Amino acid sequence: MAANIKVEVCDSAEAVASMAAAKFADLVRAKANAVIGLATGSTPEQTYAELAKMHRQQDLSFAAVTAFNLDEYWGLDGDHDQSYRHFMNSNLFDHIDIRPWNTHVLNGKAVNPALECAGFEAKILSVGGIDMWLLGIGPNGHIAFNEPGSPVDSRTRLVNLTQTTIDANSDGRFFKDASEVPRCALSAGIGTIREARSLVLLATGSKKADAIAAAVDGPFSPDCPSSMLQDHPDCTFIVDAEAASGLKR
Ligand code: GLP
Repeated sequence: MAANIKVEVCDSAEAVASMAAAKFADLVRAKANAVIGLATGSTPEQTYAELAKMHRQQDLSFAAVTAFNLDEYWGLDGDHDQSYRHFMNSNLFDHIDIRPWNTHVLNGKAVNPALECAGFEAKILSVGGIDMWLLGIGPNGHIAFNEPGSPVDSRTRLVNLTQTTIDANSDGRFFKDASEVPRCALSAGIGTIREARSLVLLATGSKKADAIAAAVDGPFSPDCPSSMLQDHPDCTFIVDAEAASGLKR
């Protein structure tokens, strides 16, 4: 398949963060009430630091912005230090002027997960859809917590995590031990993500090289969830040279 994915290869992880932050800043400057999608993980941390700096030093305002996050660990309270709500507050939301009530992170302790997920989808629709969604990628090609095998039309739902993902998130950066990692998560679906008008996926480091190669040059297949972005009309991967090292071009 002739991939539509535009790939920007940067010299460094810092350059990846600057380019990604500039894309979101441009959007917010052009459309004050933009609806943005956000991601967690180590990769976007620097992008969030850049956006917080632009808020402090360049008056970039998020006061009218609405944000939705990709996913949340099932069973973790928002106050848990490994919850994605906590990550977003401490890495971004606490450092900008976004209104807390305009930040939407799925509730990992919801009494009824199906209702929680349906409410999340309804909220996205009610604000007119997502203008630009920031994504990371797992070493197995997952996006959000859509593991290999996730259907192209999947919606926000409760999912099981694979051992690869559990291991990747307990390598000392986040959870100290695999036994601490929840086995399930609430995750926006591939279909949910594909409906965003623009997608920006970040990857740095050699551990992501195989996943990036499979996503960009491999077949469009649920075996590599991120490959199912290939027919999106506006999808950019911003990667460093190490993450790009497996690409054909
Ligand atoms: C987790 C998240 C993903 C993220 C991935 C990669 O599995 N659910 O949304 O893309 O980690 O994270 P990192 O950037 O830390 O490699």
